[in-house]
Amino acid sequence: MTSRERSPGLDRKRVYTSHFNASAMSASMPAYVEIFDTTLRDGEQTPGVALSVEEKIRIAEALSDLGVDVIEAGFPVISDGERESIKKISALGLGSRVCALCRSSSKDIDVALDCGVSYVHTFIATSDVHLKHKLKMTRQEVKARAVGAIEYAKSHGLTVEFSCEDATRTDLDFLKEMHIAVQQAGVDKINLPDTVGVVSPPAMEFLVKELMTVTRVPLSIHCHDDFGLAVANSLAAVRQGARQLHVCVNGLGERAGNASLEEVVLGLMAFFNVQTRVDPRKIGYVSKTVANLTGMPIPGNKAIVGSNAFAHESGIHVHGILGDPSTYEAFGPELVGMERSIVVGKHTGVHSVKEKLSEYGVVLTDEQISKVVNEIKKLAESGKHVDDAELVALAYHVAGQRAGEERKVKLKEFAVFTGLNITPTAVVSLEVDGANKRGSEIGVGPIDAAINAIRQVVSDKISLVEYRLSAITGGSDALCEVGVKLQYNGEKKAMSVGRSVGSDIVQTSVDAAVEAIDRLYSRMSKD
Ligand code: KIV
Ligand code: ZN
Repeated sequence: MTSRERSPGLDRKRVYTSHFNASAMSASMPAYVEIFDTTLRDGEQTPGVALSVEEKIRIAEALSDLGVDVIEAGFPVISDGERESIKKISALGLGSRVCALCRSSSKDIDVALDCGVSYVHTFIATSDVHLKHKLKMTRQEVKARAVGAIEYAKSHGLTVEFSCEDATRTDLDFLKEMHIAVQQAGVDKINLPDTVGVVSPPAMEFLVKELMTVTRVPLSIHCHDDFGLAVANSLAAVRQGARQLHVCVNGLGERAGNASLEEVVLGLMAFFNVQTRVDPRKIGYVSKTVANLTGMPIPGNKAIVGSNAFAHESGIHVHGILGDPSTYEAFGPELVGMERSIVVGKHTGVHSVKEKLSEYGVVLTDEQISKVVNEIKKLAESGKHVDDAELVALAYHVAGQRAGEERKVKLKEFAVFTGLNITPTAVVSLEVDGANKRGSEIGVGPIDAAINAIRQVVSDKISLVEYRLSAITGGSDALCEVGVKLQYNGEKKAMSVGRSVGSDIVQTSVDAAVEAIDRLYSRMSKD
């Protein structure tokens, strides 16, 4: 998607927010807000995150495809690698505009120009605390520095966005003086950073309203999350007329992070019906990509993109969800590229278990279901997490079916070859419905190769959805537990799980995969 194309937005018919939100609509609110993504700059300042040039390029491509208006690709003066990635990203010809961060200095702007960007974000601190302890400059010196840099950048044909760093702790009259001066210097946008995340939503509204009296260019907002209010503050600013928001995917950023892209975009669309160019359906994918590439896992309870955001455990909730998802979901997971899940645990009821088992083609009587529910509660209360593989195993046990009984797919032999400079390769021999079948496959490791070979022998329409390995005891001969989830991708989709415990990781993984494939095969041959 190019930045000029409109995203399909949010299907508001499938959004079930409070009707009281209508009372928060304001006449100053714009119809459209630009999204300025700083995952590659402020997001990379997250402690522990350092991205390679290739990783930055992949994230920039994903952000552009998502539909953000501006990508802050980095701070060019900080390193050679930073300059290389900004150069490469600006040469990609993305739909989003590519911007580089510069201090208010002609040297920084020259370096940004060398990187080929047409958009710079210049900044200088304006709060007395920063002037005294960091810059050791007077207000008038700071103003002259900001103006000089903007004039220099404009004389080189750049689009210029300017920030008074620590704006929310800056004297209001001086902040207004700065806004007037930088506009006279030709700035294109002014950004208002809550650098230390220290403002509250009503105070943000007050500040934006005041600044709007002297600001004629679009006003942008950059919020940090030190009090957990970055998103609330960003949305509050929009109520008073802010037209651009700075965000980071997954709320990454310096210290506690910046306003999260996904929460800001959904908040704008769902509460205010304010549009952005972001395609919400791509949010889940972009969030996972950024988590993988930055190595910063998404907390399970993170709004919108956490693994629990659309997971339901309580029996009462699952009953409601099965009746109509709007009972316990603000919007359907498909609107943001996520999936709903029903999790079994201490709060589980019969509806959840019935629904979950039906996903795996397991049908039990009501009495058997109640027994399974009781077992799950006992396990959960003793601190054990019951995953899908264990649930299915429990169901077979309660139904009186023993593992291995009436198996249609049986493992006869397998061998794996792996080592230094060898592509891991597996050979398997299975008995499938009485016929002997053999196959071999490669993989990224011995387990991957073995599971690939097993899938190949039975059907090329079977894919691996999940593989879970956990150690039960310690030491190099530890007992491990493996759970495998498979999906049959034929005309009718079907899922199955297998679970095994053993001391040899490869053997245990093969046993779990064969169990899952046997269950899937039995279902496929029945349908
Ligand atoms: O938080 C901040 O003030 C910043 C500036 C560079 C805008 O990130
Ligand atoms: Zn910041």
